[in-house]
Amino acid sequence: MQITEVDGLGAEITDVDITTLSETEFDAIKAAFAEHGVIFFRDQNTTEKDHIAFAERFGDINVNRFFAAHPDYPQIALVAKEPDQKDNIGGGWHTDHSYDHEPALGSVLVARELPESGGDTMFASMYKAYETLPEDLKAKIEGRSALHSGKHIFGEGPDSYYNTTDAGAHDEGTHRIGNAAVADTLTDPEHPIVITHPLSGKKALYVNPAFTREVVGLDQAESEALLAELYAHVFKGDGFHHRFKWEPGSIAMWDNRSTWHWALNDYPGQRRIMHRITIEGCALDA
Ligand code: SIN
Repeated sequence: MQITEVDGLGAEITDVDITTLSETEFDAIKAAFAEHGVIFFRDQNTTEKDHIAFAERFGDINVNRFFAAHPDYPQIALVAKEPDQKDNIGGGWHTDHSYDHEPALGSVLVARELPESGGDTMFASMYKAYETLPEDLKAKIEGRSALHSGKHIFGEGPDSYYNTTDAGAHDEGTHRIGNAAVADTLTDPEHPIVITHPLSGKKALYVNPAFTREVVGLDQAESEALLAELYAHVFKGDGFHHRFKWEPGSIAMWDNRSTWHWALNDYPGQRRIMHRITIEGCALDA
């Protein structure tokens, strides 16, 4: 088994079959995951059961509350976009589950049906984002927390994504993303803006444009300005972005605490079907 760092962030793991890993190979994969934040596999021939078995080696599975589930395997969430859909799941920079009190560790995404072109996934390293922040910006976030929520994306409220953007711009009915009834029952957590990563012990920037709502203790204008500065730094991503091109048999596994990702929505009229399993995480400390 070879572990090779890729540009920006992440490691590609080759000469391996994830369905027959020895304990030693699995330990090396786990260490690469903690260090690099995202790991990639190619040419894997996995059934749904293999996918579940691999994910379970990392921890308990979080059964998704918002997305449609695989009809036979509820542990697998369908990250699907049909040819007639406009929206895709994850179509902007974000990290999954920051709206939870114990955000998920990460996800294992398996490509099942790919568009002829397009549909790449972008990743950004939140370790490197923190390391490369200017010192004055590091000082501004030192010891601070932020409030996170999923209600404005998945919920029904008047300020939700579906109610505030252009009429007709989004899918409705069965194509609508997210289960609003569940989203509106969640209580919103606060997390430190800089976390100590539970696996690696390294510092990581932990805010994201999709689910972070405000910096605790600042007024709205100050909070928006500070978050905008942090996001501008990550959007620029000097040396810490990676664009992953999917092929049949590709698998990506990312850590939600040390990366952002963004599923590009550049394949209108085509189908893209991915199977995602998310693994339970823990509360995050500064
Ligand atoms: C996601 O945000 O989980 C989707 C990622 C992808 O489809 O590439």
